[in-house]
Amino acid sequence: MITTQRMENGFEYLEIRNAAAEAKIASQGAHLFHYRRHGETPLLWVSATSPFETGTAIRGGVPVCWPWFGMSSDPALPQHGFARTMMWAVEQTEEIDADTTRVVLRLAPSEATLKLWPHRFALTLEITVGAVLSMSLTTTNADDRPFTLGAALHTYFAVSQIADVRVEGLEGRPYFDALTGTRHRQEGAIGFAEETDRVYQEVDGAIRLVDGTRTVTIANEGSASAVVWNPWIAKCSRMSGMAPDSYLTMLCIESANAMEDVRTLQPGASHTLKAVIG
Ligand code: BG6
Repeated sequence: MITTQRMENGFEYLEIRNAAAEAKIASQGAHLFHYRRHGETPLLWVSATSPFETGTAIRGGVPVCWPWFGMSSDPALPQHGFARTMMWAVEQTEEIDADTTRVVLRLAPSEATLKLWPHRFALTLEITVGAVLSMSLTTTNADDRPFTLGAALHTYFAVSQIADVRVEGLEGRPYFDALTGTRHRQEGAIGFAEETDRVYQEVDGAIRLVDGTRTVTIANEGSASAVVWNPWIAKCSRMSGMAPDSYLTMLCIESANAMEDVRTLQPGASHTLKAVIG
């Protein structure tokens, strides 16, 4: 079942419920902010203090960072692009079978997007909600000159206790440490005991988030980079939409096209960044 819901302040989202799972997707940003398989706890973390309001990105779920990741070369432009705060249109909804629902949302170029990024494009996010969650972000260059694209499906995972989780699958990969501006190579699994903000490169296999007895697998396509981020105590207490202890129960593992992994699209060419989470 797919229904359109409105919060008291008019903030609109789609609610999906099928035999396997349930999900909520805001029209603003095509922002998936809830996904839960029946009988399990929610997979995504969303801040209890995040405002759901026009023009502010929801703190949690899966913000879509597009058409750049992080800061643009123009510091006046918004971090992580503009797709996460713009209104998307629902283009298609489909109940594939009792367990699987598919939704396609579209962001079209407008005066507002052209002011921020002077390129014509077609952009869709296809979200499949079932026993597995999949998200495919497809960009087409609808302009007459090439453009370079950065992106991320900036997934906030809910974890039981950050100090007890580890991330596997990035062993041996080079990474950029955004806190120190230095480059390293990952040794062993990643554990968390301090602020962590890294862009991994040469990512070519599934990433696993191991949290006690629960292991979540993130398999990416059209992506060779992944961001692993936890703000820890100090940054968490000064960030918008976060409570001081939010860092304890969230971890971002972002399926990305970041840094060396940005993509240049020729006119007419398309690129799909896909994350399959199970
Ligand atoms: C991560 C970055 O991807 O996003 C962090 O690596 C950043 O440095 C975080 O703090 C959240 O960004 P924002 O723009 O949603 O506050």
